[in-house]
Amino acid sequence: MAITRARILGTGHSYPEGILTNADLEKMVETSDDWITSRTGIKQRRKAAAGEYTSLFAVRAARQAIERAGLEPADIDLLLCATVTPDQILPSTGCIIQAELGANNAAAMDLVAACSGFLYGLTMADTMIRTGRSKYALVIGAEILSQYVDYTDRQTCVLFGDGAGAAVLGVVEGDRGILAARIRSDGRYLEQLFSPGGGTRRPPSAETLAAGDHFFKMRGNELFKVAVRSMADISREVLEEAGLTAADVKLFIPHQANQRITDAVANKLNVENERVYSNIAMHGNTSSASIPIGLDECIEAGRINDGDLVLLASFGGGVTWGGVLMRW
Ligand code: UT7
Repeated sequence: MAITRARILGTGHSYPEGILTNADLEKMVETSDDWITSRTGIKQRRKAAAGEYTSLFAVRAARQAIERAGLEPADIDLLLCATVTPDQILPSTGCIIQAELGANNAAAMDLVAACSGFLYGLTMADTMIRTGRSKYALVIGAEILSQYVDYTDRQTCVLFGDGAGAAVLGVVEGDRGILAARIRSDGRYLEQLFSPGGGTRRPPSAETLAAGDHFFKMRGNELFKVAVRSMADISREVLEEAGLTAADVKLFIPHQANQRITDAVANKLNVENERVYSNIAMHGNTSSASIPIGLDECIEAGRINDGDLVLLASFGGGVTWGGVLMRW
């Protein structure tokens, strides 16, 4: 009997035109291009202008993905928007994107898993498609992180950028498509990357705003070690589940958090530089958007061909992590 899998049919990405360079940051906080480049690999990041919001870029990325899949918005029956920077609290950014696209036959919602959001979405969509609950699913990772970055905190403000990426999935029979997908989280590490204010526990007020409670707080050093360990472990798990090894992987696209994290994970997996994708120099860390942006850039550059084994791994606040292995 033929095996039914979910497969990515089309991808897209979009980001703001505004660029914040390391030289710009040198004028804002006590830092240097040399420190940022050597410690993170980042040279610049995209930054939304006033009046630009998350769904704006999500819709552009989604339109591209739907078109490249050869579909119409009305074909989409599941729309998952992974974001920690929604347009507004209610309704979900997913529903806002749905209305803008005219994807009126979809069940739309947001998914909050920080930088792992896109892989959480792929995993959910994979399950819905394989069980016959969805025919065409749209998974988006979209963030305007610059709204939640404290541009007086040199540890975090150099890292984050804005952007959106999207993928449309459909059903396929045979060897192609998602071979294995795993997602995990561990709330015990929740204070390694968090934003304390603005929710029901610490509602927005003049005091929380003045205290900067809505900004991201990070314990970068601790997070670094957990990130390396979790991404390497989950990568091995999905490879093992599919009966494959890292030597079989054609392209590894990890979440772009820090070039040193990417290098350390690739090193643990024995995947040499040529098989690892990195765009951190250009985009910084775009949280849930980083993997779909990377995936789309690789497809546009012709780095992924039919039959290639592609490994995705992510890690983020929560903490959350995930791995997806697919045969293109
Ligand atoms: O997306 C997933 C979530 N994010 C992550 O996984 C991020 C993980 N963490 C990291 O990427 C790194 O820990 C950072 C890039 C955030 C920091 O790099 P690090 O090599 O771990 O630096 P550190 O925190 O150990 O700081 C070393 C020094 C400190 O100075 P002292 O105490 O040694 O005098 C910092 O104050 O570097 C200083 N420092 C900076 N100096 C210049 C921290 N940030 C900066 C900066 N410019 N922007």
